[in-house]
Amino acid sequence: MSVVENTKLAIIGAGSVGSSLAYASLIRNSAREVALYDVNTAKAEAEVLDLAHGTPFTGASRITGGGDMDVIAGANVVVITAGAKQEPGQTRIDLAGTNARILEKIMPQLVERAPKAVYILVTNPCDVLTVIAQQISGLPAGKVFSSGTVLDSGRLRWLLAERAGVAAQSVHASIVGEHGDSEFPLWSQASIGLTPLREWTDDSGTQVFTRDVLDALRDDVVTAAYRVIAGKGATNYAIGLSGARIVESVLRDERAVLPVSSVLSNYRGIDGVALSVPSIVGSRGVERVLDVPMDDGEQELLQRSADALSSTIKTLGY
Ligand code: LAC
Repeated sequence: MSVVENTKLAIIGAGSVGSSLAYASLIRNSAREVALYDVNTAKAEAEVLDLAHGTPFTGASRITGGGDMDVIAGANVVVITAGAKQEPGQTRIDLAGTNARILEKIMPQLVERAPKAVYILVTNPCDVLTVIAQQISGLPAGKVFSSGTVLDSGRLRWLLAERAGVAAQSVHASIVGEHGDSEFPLWSQASIGLTPLREWTDDSGTQVFTRDVLDALRDDVVTAAYRVIAGKGATNYAIGLSGARIVESVLRDERAVLPVSSVLSNYRGIDGVALSVPSIVGSRGVERVLDVPMDDGEQELLQRSADALSSTIKTLGY
């Protein structure tokens, strides 16, 4: 897709996630300019140089950046990936204290340089850090949100597509709630094409997605990151690609419906916690949080996800 002129994406953190997001954004032409910043100047400059060497083979996007935070000036979207990453066996919530301290330090510096930007948290625990970033910045809730369960929903759609033998783009399903252990699929709203998921059959007319199959698929999604981290030390490609997708909906004002995580206000009784629910994402960030239908069991799981996060948020003093 052609690049949208005069659009700038700034990425904070040139680690495996930030550099993968930069790489994905260049290949997808997400922005006219991608600026990659890291406090480690040598690392930032090396990643920028390596990516720049590839731009003759990509589209119209250009890569800039380095160790001076001023490189983000004028960005339309700032994606924050900086912070400690999950070690094998560690939960995302385990990172809360360390990464909250980093965010408290850099958020004011970022907003000073890019006051009009939409801010997207990728650093984990992204839901908790979204609440903190929104409070520190004082920006409207819609302008500070996180990638949330967009990645998890991609994992789910891939698993469903593989089992159904269809293109993932024809699978409409979302993981909602915490981007973490309490996340859950909205099975009641899932479909393949126009067929409700539970009514999908194979060529012989046999139901494919039985209760046991759905339970196993849910577990595969919730444990996906742990498995990748155990094998290669981090996840980076899928979060890079899903992050680029979200950025594009902002920079192109697509108003795509994506399960991003923003601070909820009186959403099914939930207040002051950031959770992923399908939302309209456009040039102003989260433009509308959608009140998607949920059955009683799903409503209870959403509340449980909110409870899991609000205790961490309170522990951190927010
Ligand atoms: C994952 C990280 C981005 O789920 O939390 O891969």
